[in-house]
Order: sequence, then structure tokens, then C-alpha cells
Amino acid sequence: MCTFSSISLIFLFAIFKFDGLHSADTTIWGPGLDPLIVLPARYFYVQYDQEKFNIADFNVLISGKTKNGNNCRVWTNILDRKDASFIVRYKLYEICYEFRILVENKKTLKKYWNYFDQGPIYPDECDCSKVSIDTWLSNTKCRTNIEQINNDLNQFKNVNFKTVFGKMAKFYSQHPHSTSVCHYVVKNNLIFRKCYGEYTGFKMFMDNLLLSLNRKVFLPDLEFFVNLGDWPLSSPKELFPLFSWCGSNYSVDIVMPTYDITESALENMGRVTLDMLSVQGNIEKPWSQKIEKGFWMGRDSSKHRLNLVELSKKNSDILNASITNFFFYKELKEKYGPGKKPISFFKFFDYKYLLNIDGTVAAYRFPYLLVGDSLIFKQESEYYEHFYSELIPWVHYVPVKRHLDDLLDLIDIMMSDDKTARKISLNGQKYAREHLAPHNILGYYLLLFQNYSKFLTSVEVRPNMDAVISTPNSPNQIPCQCEPEPEPSMKNIKTEL
Ligand SMILES: *[C@@H]1O[C@H](CO)[C@@H](O)[C@H](O)[C@H]1NC(C)=O
Ligand SMILES: *[C@@H]1O[C@H](CO)[C@@H](O)[C@H](O)[C@H]1NC(C)=O
Ligand SMILES: *[C@@H]1O[C@H](CO)[C@@H](O)[C@H](O)[C@H]1NC(C)=O
Repeated sequence: MCTFSSISLIFLFAIFKFDGLHSADTTIWGPGLDPLIVLPARYFYVQYDQEKFNIADFNVLISGKTKNGNNCRVWTNILDRKDASFIVRYKLYEICYEFRILVENKKTLKKYWNYFDQGPIYPDECDCSKVSIDTWLSNTKCRTNIEQINNDLNQFKNVNFKTVFGKMAKFYSQHPHSTSVCHYVVKNNLIFRKCYGEYTGFKMFMDNLLLSLNRKVFLPDLEFFVNLGDWPLSSPKELFPLFSWCGSNYSVDIVMPTYDITESALENMGRVTLDMLSVQGNIEKPWSQKIEKGFWMGRDSSKHRLNLVELSKKNSDILNASITNFFFYKELKEKYGPGKKPISFFKFFDYKYLLNIDGTVAAYRFPYLLVGDSLIFKQESEYYEHFYSELIPWVHYVPVKRHLDDLLDLIDIMMSDDKTARKISLNGQKYAREHLAPHNILGYYLLLFQNYSKFLTSVEVRPNMDAVISTPNSPNQIPCQCEPEPEPSMKNIKTEL
């Protein structure tokens, strides 16, 4: 390994920090290359020339020292995408110093190093290093203009909680059996909430998100209501600013990423095993070996799903659809059952054509389906998640009529045009890889909150609100002794190629 003068180190750093590392046969990029960007699990991508190498030719080592000079606890996980690229993700369990990221090519002996000599590098759980939202978005290279956010927010000229608070609290507490909402206030980086309705368990998703963001950035003062249910609730007549996990053509709810993808962004390498990164590393069959059938499996949460199962019973040569759990239509179990034992989501990708069929609202599995390598057939729907408006039918997925009348024909067409099928599948995958990774999800919220805060005329902590504070999940509590703010110098960061 050669040494550079400090001038050229800074120069190299300036080149590589944001774009990752490039050489003729290997490219390395992603937010995890810069561990000063705090993420629940940090990750980066390695792409190599498949004529020359395979994944076994690479050696990856992520290491650091504790303050006492012991090896610091880092868990590293490699996810083989089987397309001449892999994901390296790692999670810190303590504060690390002398942090090193090494990707070594054992064949060419070429080493890709990132050194962070002084540290400290903080685990996600530590509330030690906050930056502005603008800095965070720019460091992670997240987008700073998203049309869905603009469209959702531009419906409101301004939002005055002095007048709207009472109206919304009253309106959304009328039907406590069926409607649950929480009112949140973020003021001076403290979080408060009060919930209305009988079923408020899902507030934990919003709590976790806000706490996580609040450790990373200085949040603006905010006041908003969150809809804890699946159905969008804000009618164009009232025009209440209500944040929801699912939007619809007939409501004006401000959409956020679903609680499902949000939680998996926060808990990848943690409580959650299915997340946008794990899917990419757990697909077994390559395109050419996939079973040429449409596949679907899930709960009975809509009539459409039952219709699909019926269609599949009659056309089992090209469709395999089954209900795992009868809950909504128990009385129809005879006809559409028997309930099938669920298989791992990763096994869905044994099939070449995967169907995305609405449940009660949009099917929140859509991002995970897209990021795999099968072709996705998406049912037309009035419901949408935060990113659907960026997808183009026949480019990123195959659109299927609401009542599924054209489904069999479409599968037929795609079977006879494998090239197009493959192309659409890769387009969908590319979109999901680039825009739905965990940092993109956090970035979406940050941009949404930042823009929304501009519409607010006053933010007040109102009576009877609870403070939302983190409750560390004890036995594995991570020790977080923050260092005094390090001066953000480039001197302690070196990159060599
Ligand atoms: C949101 O913020 C971005 C960046 O500051 C800006 O380009 C965009 O116009 C804003 N949108 C709204 C609705 O304020
Ligand atoms: C449908 O798929 C499941 C899961 O892969 C499989 O166990 C079952 O045998 C398939 N059914 C048919 C009829 O092919
Ligand atoms: C909902 O709106 C989108 C975008 O305007 C449109 O493409 C779609 O057909 C609409 N769906 C329904 C069921 O109204």
C-alpha cells in the first residue's frame, strides 16, 4: 500500500467521498462508505467485472477499536445480488474509533480502503451527532425535490393549528372503533403526542421513526396528525392535513412511506428480516430457471384476492395463487381454501411472474416485490404508496385491470416475449434499488417534514400530550458516551485506492 502526502489525501477524499471508488473493473458506492452518516445499518454496494471476478474474490473487513483499544463490535453482512454486485451492510454495537472499511480483491491484491482514524463513529442508537436536514440529504445524496410531496402539500396554502387542531381532534375522534389518529408535536427537538381512538398500537412506528430522525438531524418544529389506520381519511371537502401511510385518488391525505417499509428501514439487521436489502441477497433462482407461472400468496383481505384464487384453480398451468389465512371471509374458506402454509417471501422469487393485488388498501409488499428480479404484475388501484406516481406501467411493471380480466392474457403475452419481460423486471428493480433503500425512506420523511414545516404558522405543545422518549430495549442496551462535537475536519478521513 502506498502512502500519499496529506494534500493528495484531501484531494482524493474530495473526489471519492461522494461518488465512491471507481476503477476499471470495480465500483464501490453507497452511504455506508462514509460512516459519519449515521444509519440503523450502514451499507454500500460493490459491483465488479464478471468476466474477471466472482464474489469469492473479494475480502471485506469492517473494523474499529473501542476507546480502550479492544476490537469494537461490528456485525457485517454480505448480500450477493448475483448480478456481479453485492451489498455490504454493517451495524455497530458500540462507539468505534480508528474505523476502517476494507474491500480487497484477492486476485489483483487491489485494496479499497476508507480510514476514519480518529472517530468517533456512532451506532444508530446514540444521540450524539446531529446535522441539518439539508446536510443529511446532501451527504446521503437523497433527492431534494419530490413531486408527490409537492403535490400533497401544495393543496394547503398554510396550516394554522390554532384553528385546525380543535376541528381535527373532534372530527377524528367521532368513531373511536374504526378511526385512530395521533396528534404529534415536535418542538425544540422534543417529541410529544396524544392519540385518539381505541387501537393506537401502530403509534410505535411513528414514534420509532421520529426518534430515529431526531437523533440524526435537527428537526424543524412540527405539528401534525397521523392516521394509524390503512384507509386514507382526509376528504377534499374538509382538506385536513392528515399524514397517512396510504393515499387514494379520492382523498387528500399527505402520504408517507408505509409503516412496513419504514420499520424495515429502521430495523434492517435488527428486529426485521424482510427489508429492501435482505430481499436482494436472498433470491435463489436466476431468471432463466424461474418457474414460468404467475404467483401470489397472502391474506384474504380483499374480494380481488379471492377472485384471483378462483382464477388460479381453473388455470393452474399458469397461475399459482393461494390464501394463507382466512380472516375477513372466514365463511368462504370452503370455496377458496384450504388455507396454505405461508412460504418465505424470498421463495416468491422462484417464480417469474409475481402479482401485486390490493388488500384492504395498497399491498405494502410492492416495494419488496419490485426490488427482486421477477416481473411484477400490478393491479390497477385507487390506492397508492408514496412512490407509485413515479412508476410507469409497461416500463416498471405490467398493469393489470382492477377486476383481473386481462391477467391470463397478459401472462401469456409476457411468456411469449421474454426479452420484454426481463427488461421490465430490471427497470422495476433499478427504480427500487435507487429510490427505496432505507436511506431513501428516511430522506423522504425529512424532505416531507421540512417542506411541511414551511406551511405551519404556529406550533404548540398542547395540554395532555405525552413526551415520546426512547425506551432502549434493555439487555443489549448500547452504551452511548458522546464525545464533544468533533470539528468537522477532513483531516481525519482518508481514502486510498
Ligand atoms: C420542498 O423543498 C424543496 C427543496 O427546498 C423545494 O425544491 C420544493 O419546491 C419544496 N416544495 C414545497 C412544496 O415547498
Ligand atoms: C404453488 O406454490 C407453492 C409454493 O411454491 C407450492 O408448494 C405448490 O405446490 C404450488 N402449487 C401448484 C399447483 O403448483
Ligand atoms: C388513480 O389515479 C391515477 C393517477 O392519476 C390513475 O392512473 C389511475 O387510473 C387512478 N385509478 C383509479 C382506480 O381511479
